[in-house]
Amino acid sequence: MKIAILGSGRMGGALGTIWAKAGHSVTFAYSRSSRKLEDLAKATNGRAESPADAAKDADAVLIAVHWSRIDDVLGKAGSLDGKVVVNCCIPLDEEDRDLVLGTTTSGAEELDRRLPEARLVCAFNTCPSEALSAVFAKCDSSPRPQLLYYGDDPAAKEVARQLIEDTGYEPLDAGALRMARFVEPFAMVTAELAYGGSGGAELVYRFDRLS
Ligand SMILES: NC(=O)c1ccc[n+]([C@@H]2O[C@H](COP(=O)([O-])OP(=O)(O)OC[C@H]3O[C@@H](n4cnc5c(N)ncnc54)[C@H](OP(=O)(O)O)[C@@H]3O)[C@@H](O)[C@H]2O)c1
Repeated sequence: MKIAILGSGRMGGALGTIWAKAGHSVTFAYSRSSRKLEDLAKATNGRAESPADAAKDADAVLIAVHWSRIDDVLGKAGSLDGKVVVNCCIPLDEEDRDLVLGTTTSGAEELDRRLPEARLVCAFNTCPSEALSAVFAKCDSSPRPQLLYYGDDPAAKEVARQLIEDTGYEPLDAGALRMARFVEPFAMVTAELAYGGSGGAELVYRFDRLS
């Protein structure tokens, strides 16, 4: 799969690196440092391009920017009509403290309104970036950590499911895009558990049933 990474920071850099190891062709974009994009590209046998060039030929586009940069990155990406867009963003304020949207809408639903012709799916917003390489390194272990994904487009969800598999997590379908109203606050719980305690940031989760 050709994957465009729009936002090559902690999440985009880690996911792109893992997907390259899993055999995908990855293009890194959207950083203030072209050197950083080039280093990521070099390390992954991938490419460093502008957001528009990266997105143009991509089979899947990861959006991994701070919520305050959404308008900017979408403006630079050009048309994403018909593209599978994987959103890992949490709609946080500048301090990364509070959600700026919620209860009756969500970041994902707002993004969907801005990209009505894109095939939006949400994933990777409930895993700390620090856990990604550790999970990938143990991808043959069982049981695997789970990862929630959700959306309204079945084909986009199938792409997300495959990309989650490729990172070593067990995909857990959480339903429709409107579930974002509930998953985005849950993502803040995972962040608090990862960064607020003393156990380290390599936090994973599994939902189980007793019978
Ligand atoms: N980090 C996590 O563990 C985690 C977990 C779940 C969800 N999320 C969500 O995932 C999204 C990405 O988080 P992250 O931690 O990966 O963020 P990050 O490390 O700050 O990466 C954001 C990327 O956007 C780029 N950027 C910021 N301002 C820019 C500008 N003015 N022009 C061009 N590029 C710019 C950054 O560039 P530079 O390279 O120049 O810094 C960086 O490459 C956020 O919405 C976050 O809430 C994060």
